[in-house]
Amino acid sequence: MNEADAQRVASLLESAGLHPVADAKNAAFLLINTCVVRQQAEDKIYKRLRYTAQLKHRNPDLVIALMGCLVGRIPHEHDALRERFPWIDLFLPPSDVQPLKAYLQEQGFPLPPDMAADDFLPAPLPRSQSGQRIVVHVPAVMGCSHACTYCVIPYRRGREHSRPSADILAEIRSLAGQGVREVVLLGQIVDRYGLDAPGEILLPELLRQTAAIPGILRVRFLTSHPAWITPELIEAVASTPQLCPYFEIPVQAGSDAILAAMRRGYNAADYENLIAGIRAAIPQAGLSTDIIVGFPGETDAMFAETATLMERVAPDMIRIAKYSPRPLTWSSRHLPDDVPEAEKERRRILLETALRERLTHKHAALVGQAVEILVETIEPSGRRHGRTPDYKPVFVDRSSAQPGELIRVRVTWAGPFSLIAEPA
Ligand code: 5AD
Repeated sequence: MNEADAQRVASLLESAGLHPVADAKNAAFLLINTCVVRQQAEDKIYKRLRYTAQLKHRNPDLVIALMGCLVGRIPHEHDALRERFPWIDLFLPPSDVQPLKAYLQEQGFPLPPDMAADDFLPAPLPRSQSGQRIVVHVPAVMGCSHACTYCVIPYRRGREHSRPSADILAEIRSLAGQGVREVVLLGQIVDRYGLDAPGEILLPELLRQTAAIPGILRVRFLTSHPAWITPELIEAVASTPQLCPYFEIPVQAGSDAILAAMRRGYNAADYENLIAGIRAAIPQAGLSTDIIVGFPGETDAMFAETATLMERVAPDMIRIAKYSPRPLTWSSRHLPDDVPEAEKERRRILLETALRERLTHKHAALVGQAVEILVETIEPSGRRHGRTPDYKPVFVDRSSAQPGELIRVRVTWAGPFSLIAEPA
């Protein structure tokens, strides 16, 4: 979602006539988008903000904007930030570019009429003079109304709210006309698309209509919740060629006691059954999941259940986070953060090492095989970069394909997290 917000901001700035620079030192305008889902992400922001204070000191004309979940949606919190970071000029809540539009208009930057419109949402269409975008993230469900006990997102991004499908589809038609070839539909629980809006189509239909738009070669969606993903969604992926067979379904833990304490609404067996069902319908499906290690009360035995679940389910990617208490969340108010940092790190490394070994072994079988990739960028070395339908990054040597082309390539090298290939 932050990627989507950043793409929109970049488009807005470029349509106001600003151009990207490689080094923040040379910028006249600086915008920092922020994530606070974990303490580590938040700490990174403070480090970067201290650096921007130096830049402002050297160049008092520099305009600095802060966006995203650190800013949040509650105005009096902005005052606190203003006091704490007096060198920041502008504060933008997550997914809300209105303050930036207002600022640009105030400063006399000419905005195209559709950008100047006084809409809160949707944000402006991504467009980029600095380069052709092949993949664009498109928000479908904003905010989140669920109450996983560890998660700060509902407090930072506000209530769940589906964008009208007519807006989403119009935006994607426009993107396709601008050369975009892949769209990723987004929601904190994307499977819930339309459920908050009577009469609205649901996610499987939204995906089918997206896939039918001329020019759109690939469609993805994230993130799914194990309790909300539906058989209709799996069926849509199985039967629609443009819908990539890739599922991002965070499980968070393999212990039923921890899943209950997280209030996730499913147990480990439910998750295994769900994945088995997906693979029965779509044998080539890729799977990514998220794990939190060191949730309050997680014993060694409970962690072992997570580790063995990961071996049984064998995801193609695991995003592993160490638990950190987040402000206002239920777990931070009621449960002691009682797993020592060193133990969290030990558990993280165990999962990561197992993943790396398993994927090294699994991918070795891909060498010599042909895969299809959508070329996204050309590296300075001339290598083409793209991804397989199941989201593995591929670097292609000796190819003259242009960004936006679907090509078949033969894998010449395979590591745990990327592949190298040549034209097939
Ligand atoms: N501590 C650690 N990880 C967290 N995540 C969300 N909240 C926390 C937290 N308090 C992780 C989850 C989620 C991902 C986006 O971040 O795994 O899926």
